[in-house]
Amino acid sequence: MLAKTFFLWTVLPLAIYSVFNHLFYTWLPNNYVFDKDVLAGLARETIANHPDGNATAIMLELAPKLKAQYGDIVNDLNFDDWVYNNAGGAMGTMFILHASISEYLIFFGTAIGTEGHTGIHFADDYFTILTGEQKAAFPGALTPEVYLPGDVHHLVKGTAKQYSMPSGAFAMELAQGWIPAMLPFGFLDTLSSTLDFYAFGRTVYFTALDMGRNLLLGKF
Ligand SMILES: *[C@@H]1O[C@H](CO)[C@@H](O)[C@H](O)[C@H]1NC(C)=O
Repeated sequence: MLAKTFFLWTVLPLAIYSVFNHLFYTWLPNNYVFDKDVLAGLARETIANHPDGNATAIMLELAPKLKAQYGDIVNDLNFDDWVYNNAGGAMGTMFILHASISEYLIFFGTAIGTEGHTGIHFADDYFTILTGEQKAAFPGALTPEVYLPGDVHHLVKGTAKQYSMPSGAFAMELAQGWIPAMLPFGFLDTLSSTLDFYAFGRTVYFTALDMGRNLLLGKF
């Protein structure tokens, strides 16, 4: 009985984790299509065209460039399909440019300002600032890292920081790794706090639809 419990709750989860962790460093990257440096380059040339820092204008110019670079796996920007994102105590709004099993690309930000926990993810996260700024800090850091437009904040797999974004800060976020493992972090604040099942439903719908669509396009 004890042996069975130990197997079910300790050995089995560790074995499953080890397999997925091994794949993260070996097979999974073969499925990555997006290049963080290409994305940052496109963001920087777009930001340079908008010295006034107009987030709308920057995204309206950047989204078609992303589509031109990566084709049908990138969704057309549509401000009706933005959804609230509550996670780690922070609240923002996002648009899903791409979601598949191994990658997502979104615009994320806040007109209001927010602060919270990044979450600990089974993925590398590249957060390219478009407007405003992001501050971030590890527990022992008494002064923040500050990321400005064009900067890329790389949150390394398995690490967590406190972060904040002031009013009007928007970013393009690329995540590469086991995306389904990131989703509970994106959903639990809804179930435990906001109970905003409208935003929850739309997020699940857009994510599942895009993951399914990209699988059919052969994008894992
Ligand atoms: C920002 O850009 C959008 C889209 O080009 C435009 O409609 C809007 O008027 C601009 N806002 C300001 C404050 O310039």
